[in-house]
Amino acid sequence: MLAGVKVLVIGSGAREHALCRSLSLDPDVTALYCAPGNAGIAEVAELHPVDALDGAAVARLAGELAADLVVVGPEAPLVAGVADAVRAAGIPCFGPSGEAAQLEGSKAFAKDVMAGAGVPTARSYVCTTPDEVDEALDAFGAPYVVKDDGLAAGKGVVVTDDLEAARAHANACDRVVIEEFLDGPEVSLFAITDGVTVVPLQPAQDFKRALDGDAGPNTGGMGAYSPLPWADPKLVDEVMETVLQPTVDELRRRGTAFSGLLYAGLAITSRGVRVIEFNARFGDPETQVVLARLKTPLAGVLLASANGTLADLPPLRWSDEAAVTVVVASHNYPETPRTGDPITGLADVAAQDAPHAYVLHAGTKRDGDAVVSAGGRVLSVTATGSDLTQARERAYAALSRIGLDGSQHRTDIAAKAAAEA
Ligand code: AMP
Ligand code: GLY
Repeated sequence: MLAGVKVLVIGSGAREHALCRSLSLDPDVTALYCAPGNAGIAEVAELHPVDALDGAAVARLAGELAADLVVVGPEAPLVAGVADAVRAAGIPCFGPSGEAAQLEGSKAFAKDVMAGAGVPTARSYVCTTPDEVDEALDAFGAPYVVKDDGLAAGKGVVVTDDLEAARAHANACDRVVIEEFLDGPEVSLFAITDGVTVVPLQPAQDFKRALDGDAGPNTGGMGAYSPLPWADPKLVDEVMETVLQPTVDELRRRGTAFSGLLYAGLAITSRGVRVIEFNARFGDPETQVVLARLKTPLAGVLLASANGTLADLPPLRWSDEAAVTVVVASHNYPETPRTGDPITGLADVAAQDAPHAYVLHAGTKRDGDAVVSAGGRVLSVTATGSDLTQARERAYAALSRIGLDGSQHRTDIAAKAAAEA
């Protein structure tokens, strides 16, 4: 048991709402704050305004609130060194240093770490000139995979059969990674680490494309589910051994020990598991379904990462239930999302669907008595059930009560996995 912890969560997405929801249900958490938060998080945490990218401001706020733990949700503050600033102020922080967050902040750095650690990934070239781009595209052939080297909120990657489109994206970036196409289903596997010990969470699958049937542009993620009935039961052990532990060991060896959440985006190819990407934080929307299934109270897990005591943590406990989340996005997402539209039906979901289904807010804000859209991904409806079929039914039933003019969502989240289970 912990003595009672005051937690400050930084961020304002559905991932942060999911983190705050779990922390609000944790008996060890005596005070819960979120900055800047959103209209939904305000129901479970006390909100404070802050510029999440300003490490000094975040550290000051954490000090004023006497927080025992700061959890930095999104990648941009991590890459900006916000976790370093919090730790420098003597406050335990969940999240990697700015240097270690380069694992997500630079695809080229991630490739270098993987090469050093012997982690299986797509073969790739880093290109900075049009000639290098043409050479790399030619070497791999279609489908072309072209990735902006820097952070691009999930939108820097183009996968296409169209050589001109591949070339255009590559030449619009300062530095690109061009790589071999990986086929096979994708899996997101998260692990909590303190830089030495690695504790894997349960795998989830994300739906990155905007439209049903995996059509349309790449997005930040349109839905997710867990568990994966089709996956090899040994998958987690295999990824621990071939990917997660070697990566954490390699980063420590380089003097950039990584603590926080290590997100492995994997392709299960015919030749084995390959890393598509690493992220340095909880994934969104996968977190919504992974945390829906985690029975171990969350604060102690995050604190053990921050304090370097994960080796002493008892094994995590998981629910046998399945979880599904479906993202509701604004009109015109991911191009130029329209904001300011009223969201209706939130109270109906709370009245009719809880506790099995609930809304996690992303881009929302209060406008008088109304809650209005304020971003591309507006909210995600999460549900649990005895299997994926029931979780899906509950998620879509709750979603049908939500009104948002011009909004879009996928209707096929977890459909294939549920049908095959
Ligand atoms: P990333 O930002 O690296 O996660 O890429 C976004 C999405 O692009 C991934 O989830 C995949 O669907 C796709 N993608 C990225 N790299 C590859 C690859 N080497 N082969 C096939 N698809 C890829
Ligand atoms: N769901 C993808 C991501 O969080 O990057």
